[in-house]
Amino acid sequence: MYKAFFGLISNPFNLSPDPAFLFRSPQHEEALANLIYGVQSRKGFIALTGEVGTGKTTMLECLRDHLDAHQTPFAFVFNSRLTPEQFFEMVAYDFELPCSRTSKTEVLFALNAMLLDRANQNRTAALIVDEAHNLDWNVLEEIRLLGNLENRRGKLLQIILSGQPELDRKLEQSEYRQLRQRIALRCRLRAFTASETSQYIATRLSRAGLRDQKVFPADILLEIHRRTEGIPRVINSVCDNMMLTAFAMERRVTTLEMLDEVSNDLQLDYPTSRIAELRA
Ligand SMILES: Nc1ncnc2c1ncn2[C@@H]1O[C@H](COP(=O)(O)OP(=O)(O)O)[C@@H](O)[C@H]1O
Ligand SMILES: [Mg+2]
Repeated sequence: MYKAFFGLISNPFNLSPDPAFLFRSPQHEEALANLIYGVQSRKGFIALTGEVGTGKTTMLECLRDHLDAHQTPFAFVFNSRLTPEQFFEMVAYDFELPCSRTSKTEVLFALNAMLLDRANQNRTAALIVDEAHNLDWNVLEEIRLLGNLENRRGKLLQIILSGQPELDRKLEQSEYRQLRQRIALRCRLRAFTASETSQYIATRLSRAGLRDQKVFPADILLEIHRRTEGIPRVINSVCDNMMLTAFAMERRVTTLEMLDEVSNDLQLDYPTSRIAELRA
């Protein structure tokens, strides 16, 4: 809507996990390097955790691009309300296994054959599970068993479990002990620091065609950071709404009043808003 007004070629603050807008913060860089390393060196289980909106799915999308570029097959499971039967069906579908997708035995047989074949060529395959914190025990147990397949050179299937911090807490429970012990690599995403928040905003704007952004002055960037607590998804919503407000007012530079209005509309809950409420 405001693209032409600001001279942009695309929408800078989309909520989709698009690698084209990737900002390589040190922690995102490290998480991606770990995911790639874990798959390449056949570590078996890799866990990626972080609060909602910190960039987990975006990291998984980057990993998918990497795997595609290296002809490494993968299955991507993102619907966490799955039964074990549906899980095997999805795996068979993604790996294009030549078997009846509704028979667990056939899927396991075909998967094993495919993985051994890959291993013989000194290659591997990956299973990526997003929103893993929501998976039922019986599905996680099937995943754990898939992680047992190995030959003398390492695990046959590399399994990435990505989820909110509840995933860590879930794995602490005794019934998940066996799975927890198998996790060879752990990556965690945190919120951005203040300087990362402004670099993040500048990076997204520049990818959308606006170099050397002046839409968000330094003091506004700091205040955006404080109010969003450095969570990328929240930063996107705030910035998108602020640009829309600025456009409606035909202003090229955002102001604190605009940020107040947007924070209010989005019902942002940040420290001083609570103090203000108490005072009111
Ligand atoms: N490092 C990053 N670079 C660019 N955009 C990011 C980054 N981290 C998060 N985002 C953006 O923030 C939003 C939320 O990210 P997402 O990957 O969906 O988070 P999560 O899966 O952890 O909830 C998306 O719009 C995504 O593009
Ligand atoms: Mg996600």
